[in-house]
Amino acid sequence: MLRSHTCGELRIANVDQQVTLCGWVDKYRDHGGTMFLDLRDRYGRTQVVVNPDSGTDNVEVAKKLRGEDVVLIEGVVSARLMGKDNMKLPTGEIEIRATRVQLLNRSLTPPFFPNQEELPGEDLRLKHRFIDLRRSSMQETLILRAKIIKAMRDYFADNDFIDVETPILGRSTPEGARDYLVPSRVHWGQFFALPQSPQLYKQILMVAGYDRYVQVARCFRDEDLRADRQPEFTQLDMEMSFVDANDIIAMIDGLMVQLADKMLGIPLTTPLPRMTYDEAMRRFGSDCPDLRFGMEIVDCSDLAAQTSFRVFRGAVDEGGHVRGIKVDRRAEEFSRKRIDELTEFTKNDFGAKGLAWFRVEQDGSLWSPISKNLEPAVLDGIKSRFQAEPGDLILMLADTWEVTCKGLNGLRRRLGAELQLYDPKQMHFSWVVEFPMFDKDEESNRWVAMHHPFTAPRSQDLESLKKSPGDCRAQAYDLVINGYEAGGGTIRIHDHSTQQDVFDLLGMTAEMARDRFGFLLDALSYGAPPHGGIALGIDRIVMLFARLDNIRDCIAFPKTQRAMDLMTEAPGSVEHKQLHELHIQVETPPAKS
Ligand code: AMO
Ligand code: AMP
Repeated sequence: MLRSHTCGELRIANVDQQVTLCGWVDKYRDHGGTMFLDLRDRYGRTQVVVNPDSGTDNVEVAKKLRGEDVVLIEGVVSARLMGKDNMKLPTGEIEIRATRVQLLNRSLTPPFFPNQEELPGEDLRLKHRFIDLRRSSMQETLILRAKIIKAMRDYFADNDFIDVETPILGRSTPEGARDYLVPSRVHWGQFFALPQSPQLYKQILMVAGYDRYVQVARCFRDEDLRADRQPEFTQLDMEMSFVDANDIIAMIDGLMVQLADKMLGIPLTTPLPRMTYDEAMRRFGSDCPDLRFGMEIVDCSDLAAQTSFRVFRGAVDEGGHVRGIKVDRRAEEFSRKRIDELTEFTKNDFGAKGLAWFRVEQDGSLWSPISKNLEPAVLDGIKSRFQAEPGDLILMLADTWEVTCKGLNGLRRRLGAELQLYDPKQMHFSWVVEFPMFDKDEESNRWVAMHHPFTAPRSQDLESLKKSPGDCRAQAYDLVINGYEAGGGTIRIHDHSTQQDVFDLLGMTAEMARDRFGFLLDALSYGAPPHGGIALGIDRIVMLFARLDNIRDCIAFPKTQRAMDLMTEAPGSVEHKQLHELHIQVETPPAKS
């Protein structure tokens, strides 16, 4: 080892020890004959003093040092002079009086400094990720990530799970997102797909008798990226045999208790709260509601059916809903301009046709630009339905069920943050259960699996599976943390015939199903145990535990919103010879207009 200690280690108890530190120059100050260097590594920072006592040669080297140079310092630990302590630093009571200053490697002037106050633009950070990763907040997050993954692995090992790796080169299967494809050189015109998840492999492992499987699995999905989505991300993937939904939920509850305690010192009580999908949509308009605050959705569709006001009545007549949320006591914070902004937000982001609003006046009456269109009984009805008090603001959407859900969920989340209705340090864990089995794809008017096609319906819904698929509920559960979907799983179909029924419903003929999933159907026919599992989004869990709002900050080398790695400049073009070997021809891109 070049060094005897790290830059975060030395304390007053080490005074008079001879030490050697290595690190990067974080800061340097030249006070005439005396130089102060702050030496940094991932453990912390330590102040080094280089003065004439250190020797002329060392002073000369020190004078030429600049930020991010890598140096080795030998010296003696000393207490800082009276009044010079820096209580903000764990090493703030000591400094090193240098007896040797050796430049290990010079740094060019970096495009930004790890300690600069204002963060540079994200593209610059991603391009020079080696500098960005030196920032202490990045290092703290990646260390937290490592601890979370270790705690997860320990938990599952303690519970008798077997860690099994599954292939990265697999077969394209329809699981929602677009696949990343890998051409085969050996098999002309054939492609592997990178796994969107180890779903089928883990089910096969259950059939093979590995009744508790776990894996930290990298998954790949070519989908539109957002702050909480990356094209490659990591799941804590698990599967169990001879279980029902409650068993999987309880297993993850136990994990969350440990993580919250070990990482955040937060005590959780189990079972974590649960809510059905239908209730979540009704009360919060979202299948992953942020339960750190109230502001629940109130349905006034029956009242809207009694008015002649075109906007409200029309929505209900067309089978839609009139629903709203209420801001308690803070109507005065909403200027016309702010309400106009919220209106544009619901229109542009969620396709709402407009936003109706009401202010409760001191005399208890509802004031609104549309009050004059509404009958007094309807106004009274709205007021009492919302239990509105003077100073409240009511925001309402008249639209389809879906648009009222999306729009009010969007408004609720935005207002919850803007009005600071919760403590940003607060963590809320819950489950949303009993998701619908299927969703109607509007364009093709076909049923699509809400989770994936291997999900088992609830036993009491087997009847409706064929009769009214839209009413059929699944044995499905999502873990929700602070309004984010942190994990999702289901109990699986374990018999061949139900699996075939579901494939049929999804418009897959027996031949198609055999072609794509023959191995699964075969496996289900050779003694498949009842089984189920879940996958947790590790990147998202790290983001939430680190109280960040972007998963790119929780991944060492993430992709941009446009699915590129700015540091390595991947994806990149390849040699013609490589394409030729793969039997691939690239079309010329259309000219940009
Ligand atoms: P699902 O598709 O719900 O389930 O994924 C599980 C969890 O993975 C996280 N996640 C993502 N994180 C970052 N970027 C993405 N693009 C991304 N997509 C998903 C989410 C999500 O809850 N095989 C099933 C699991 C099962 O049924 O056992 C699956 O993959 O946190
Ligand atoms: P209009 O007659 O379309 O200008 O609408 C009259 C008022 O109703 C305006 O304040 C609109 O913002 C509001 N409004 C219109 N459409 C909707 C809707 N779908 N939901 C809620 N409010 C609406």
